[in-house]
Amino acid sequence: MAEKKKKKNESKILVFGGTGYIGSYIVKASIKFGHPTYVFSRPNSDKTEMLNHLQSMGAIIVKGTMDEHDKLVSLLREVDVVISALAYPQVLDQLKIIQAIKVAGNIKRFLPSDFGVEEDRVSVLPPFEAFLEKKRNIRRAVEAANIPYTFVSANCCGAYFVNFLLRPYQQKQDITVYGSGEAKAVMVYEEDIGIFTIKVATDPRACNRVVIYRPAANFISQLELISLWENKTGKNFNKVHVPEEEMVTLSKTLPDPQNIPISILHSLFVKGVTTNFELGENDVEASALYPDLKVTAVDELLDVFLCNPPKPVNAAFA
Ligand SMILES: NC(=O)c1ccc[n+]([C@@H]2O[C@H](COP(=O)([O-])OP(=O)(O)OC[C@H]3O[C@@H](n4cnc5c(N)ncnc54)[C@H](OP(=O)(O)O)[C@@H]3O)[C@@H](O)[C@H]2O)c1
Repeated sequence: MAEKKKKKNESKILVFGGTGYIGSYIVKASIKFGHPTYVFSRPNSDKTEMLNHLQSMGAIIVKGTMDEHDKLVSLLREVDVVISALAYPQVLDQLKIIQAIKVAGNIKRFLPSDFGVEEDRVSVLPPFEAFLEKKRNIRRAVEAANIPYTFVSANCCGAYFVNFLLRPYQQKQDITVYGSGEAKAVMVYEEDIGIFTIKVATDPRACNRVVIYRPAANFISQLELISLWENKTGKNFNKVHVPEEEMVTLSKTLPDPQNIPISILHSLFVKGVTTNFELGENDVEASALYPDLKVTAVDELLDVFLCNPPKPVNAAFA
């Protein structure tokens, strides 16, 4: 049978972790943009519902494990772009993807599983530092292997952190505020993270660059977020502050890995690490690359919570 003719601007995109929290938004965006989209999923995956959903949208599901090197290499030879959205505990498994990409030799772009703070630019509390160091090791391995890359700093996942900070699903009177609540963070709706990620993965301007998702309408402090939510819901919340010193103490006394989330909250909402550095000459800011793309402002994200609230999730740390 004659091979299907490749359409202009179409790339075959393979996503590792495509059934996951961030991965599923990336897969959906890839399908939406018309790219033939492959999802690598473990034989024992429990994400049956998501797998069926993605398959019904047109995703090609490939079952396998990271240890099946030859299978990985043959699969990679079928595709152009590889995006990894594996969770933190699987970050070092990406060395197996890098090894297979080197052998395959055809991959035009690899995006490792970053999707958080700009790890090469921030200095954070030790438990989070150890977390970021693993992600930095992957970046260095990609560079050393001469694989064309895009490193993505997506900053705070918007719906993830609205759920975490405001807890709309609990309908409580108290809202916890980390530190003074004044530091600004960048919160980007996951649907936009998916769209930006597919855009940059296939954009020559983002090749061998760090791309930071930092749209101006998405800078917000915890106090501003609470105030917006009060206006929308007509409620007044009781703000319960956790002082910075208490967070630092918890980062030292909580057992691993429970010491990681508190250290992340400290860096995002007390130190403001997603907003407290200037972008350099070589950095690319996603919304500046695509000025015609409508980005969901935090105010609009809260409207989503009013009519169709995204489910709360917890990222995996162990
Ligand atoms: N910026 C933010 O606010 C934010 C928030 C959350 C996460 N993140 C980052 O985003 C990236 C993706 O995280 P995520 O929370 O989206 O990942 P996730 O949903 O926990 O997992 C992604 C996928 O990994 C696959 N997987 C492979 N080996 C696994 C194993 N041993 N156990 C469990 N799952 C395994 C699973 O797919 P199969 O079952 O199909 O194999 C799973 O669906 C990470 O780098 C994380 O640090 C950032």
